[in-house]
Amino acid sequence: MASIAHHLSPLLLFTILLHTSINGSPTKPPTTPCPSFDCGNGLIISYPFWLKGKQNNDEYCGYPGFDLLCTDQQPLIRLSNHLYRLKNINYSENTLTATYLELNNGACPIAPHDVRLNLNISYFLNYTIEDKMVHFFYNCTLYPPSLSSIACLQHGLKRSYVFMEGAIPEFDWQRFCDSTVSAVVVEKGGDGGVLGGGFGRVLQDGFKLGWRSPDSDCRACEATGGFCGYRYSDGLHRNFICICSDGRRSDNCHDNGVVEQTVVEASASLFYA
Ligand SMILES: *[C@@H]1O[C@H](CO)[C@@H](O)[C@H](O)[C@H]1NC(C)=O
Ligand SMILES: *[C@@H]1O[C@H](CO)[C@@H](O)[C@H](O)[C@H]1NC(C)=O
Ligand SMILES: *[C@@H]1O[C@H](CO)[C@@H](O)[C@H](O)[C@H]1NC(C)=O
Ligand SMILES: *[C@@H]1O[C@H](CO)[C@@H](O)[C@H](O)[C@H]1NC(C)=O
Repeated sequence: MASIAHHLSPLLLFTILLHTSINGSPTKPPTTPCPSFDCGNGLIISYPFWLKGKQNNDEYCGYPGFDLLCTDQQPLIRLSNHLYRLKNINYSENTLTATYLELNNGACPIAPHDVRLNLNISYFLNYTIEDKMVHFFYNCTLYPPSLSSIACLQHGLKRSYVFMEGAIPEFDWQRFCDSTVSAVVVEKGGDGGVLGGGFGRVLQDGFKLGWRSPDSDCRACEATGGFCGYRYSDGLHRNFICICSDGRRSDNCHDNGVVEQTVVEASASLFYA
């Protein structure tokens, strides 16, 4: 008995010393499993966004559908079938601001297509209460004569119009106009706005989307200071993984202790009820 105890104690002591030297080491630089990046235009992009092609192909850190592309030093995000320019991200509010990619810089741009969210992929992304839906009717050959049209979009006898959601005058717009586009904008009021001829600036300013954690596994992971990641098992099906700040994969990261639940809940209240 005595001889076993005699042999054990140096081993125990060694284990304790090894343990403290790993945990107590102040020289180890902090690493993050989900590195920030920028596309060259100065906008720092962090989790839950991620750069497609920069991470391991079978596994990524960030939300599904939050993969970005860098093109001409601009971060682009895909919503439904179109790419949009990511103008700004507010990590404390959990919102992003995006604009059409195809807009020319003039005062008289044309909204190229409807703004749609792909709720299949990004069902945890949504419009915010600041967004307003507006409807453009382009190149109408017949129109109610009393309405004012968009002056800079007159082509001969053809007229174009823009109306706010819920305020579209009764008329068969679909029939008499060449195209109709539903866009989402943040209408701040003042200097013209969409209806007062300021629709060009309003389109350039873009629209705002809020996000929340994709699922309850992810919420639980983030609540313990972890980052949500996903791993493709067979190229098709993705499985959730929780990545702790030390790179460990675990169901939760309680050791890191940072509770972020309040952020998640605050952002949910931005959505329309
Ligand atoms: C983010 O949103 C908060 C809350 O609305 C606001 O106070 C803050 O200024 C915003 N930050 C940026 C960088 O826009
Ligand atoms: C969403 O999923 C449904 C059913 O799986 C599919 O029919 C539909 O085309 C999908 N929509 C988009 C925008 O991908
Ligand atoms: C997103 O917002 C729309 C209203 O703009 C609402 O009908 C829908 O339920 C919301 N979806 C989610 C997932 O919050
Ligand atoms: C409207 O018609 C003019 C001339 O016919 C054309 O140049 C312009 O591109 C059209 N605008 C839209 C939004 O289709």
